Formats: sequence, structure tokens, C-alpha cells
Amino acid sequence: MKLPIYLYGSKVLREPAQAADVADREKISALVSDMEETLASADGCGLAAPQVGVPTRVLIVDGRGLEDVYPYLKDFKRVMINPVVVEESKETCDYSEGCLSVPGIYAEVRRPEKIKVEYINADFEPVAEEFDKFACRMVQHELDHLDGKMFVDRVAPIRRKMIAKKLTNISHGKVSAHYKTKHD
Ligand code: NI
Repeated sequence: MKLPIYLYGSKVLREPAQAADVADREKISALVSDMEETLASADGCGLAAPQVGVPTRVLIVDGRGLEDVYPYLKDFKRVMINPVVVEESKETCDYSEGCLSVPGIYAEVRRPEKIKVEYINADFEPVAEEFDKFACRMVQHELDHLDGKMFVDRVAPIRRKMIAKKLTNISHGKVSAHYKTKHD
């Protein structure tokens, strides 16, 4: 089932999400399936459960639509349940980020270049995996959502000032997106 995406300004996007109960596989699989459908119909490359109003530690990253820009993402798709960052590099890098909850805003964000994450995959198997380049960035962006953080929080102050008005508009519902959105 396709779900509406909560916009910047919604409370659910600011609350740390709770661990998913992996004993209830049926419930998690249903959530993942709804999130996949929602992400695909919004043409996004990542979605975290709080963005569909569910405060649970589940995220999806899907780079397959970015193949033209980043060919190595051709087959890159991951479902992560209860992900935990166990290592991150001291080296940082900058990438421009956007977010389905913040339509129309893109901004450079600096984050660690590489991370190692432990998580449960969609088949309920434990995985430990390292990420780098834009794949790493996609995962980091979604991980933030599970802690109630958003990429605009990490934007340099001067750029933040430039987008402040747009953010206020989004939080007041003055925004248009090609997918269904809502506020809580
Ligand atoms: Ni996002």
C-alpha cells in the first residue's frame, strides 16, 4: 500500500524511532513492502519508516535510479532493520542531499566518507557491511531519520539561512510534490 510521506515540520520526523520487533516478521515485512511501494512511486532513493509516520528503526536505500550519475549503484538496494553504525571514518566528504520530506531543497552536507553498519536484512539475516561513496551517503541520510535528525540540520549556517524561508513554507504546507504528502 502506497503511503503519504510526512513533510518537514512533522513531529514524527523529530522523534527517535524505536527498535523494530524482529519477532514480528509479518508486521515488519508488511511495513517494508509499503515503504518500497511508496519509495518507488515517489521516485526517491531512500526512505525511513518515520517518513511514513511509523516510528520504527527500518530504512530502505535504493540507488538503482541513480545509475546514470553513479554507475556502481546499478544494483544497489538495501533494506535495513535496526541498523547500527559500528565504525565510521575520520575522513569526511561533501555531497548534495535532498529528501522526500523536504521537497525542492538540495544542499551540500559533510559526513564521514565511510561507515560500517550492522543490521538485519529483509530476509531477517544479520549483516555487517561497509559503505563508501554515495552509497554510504544514502545510508547515513536515512540513519539520521531514525534518530529524529534531518539533513537540513547539518547544512552550513550560511546555506541554512538561504533555505530557511523555504523550510518554513514546507512546514506550513506551502509546497508541491508529485507524490502524496502530509503533516502530523
Ligand atoms: Ni530524507
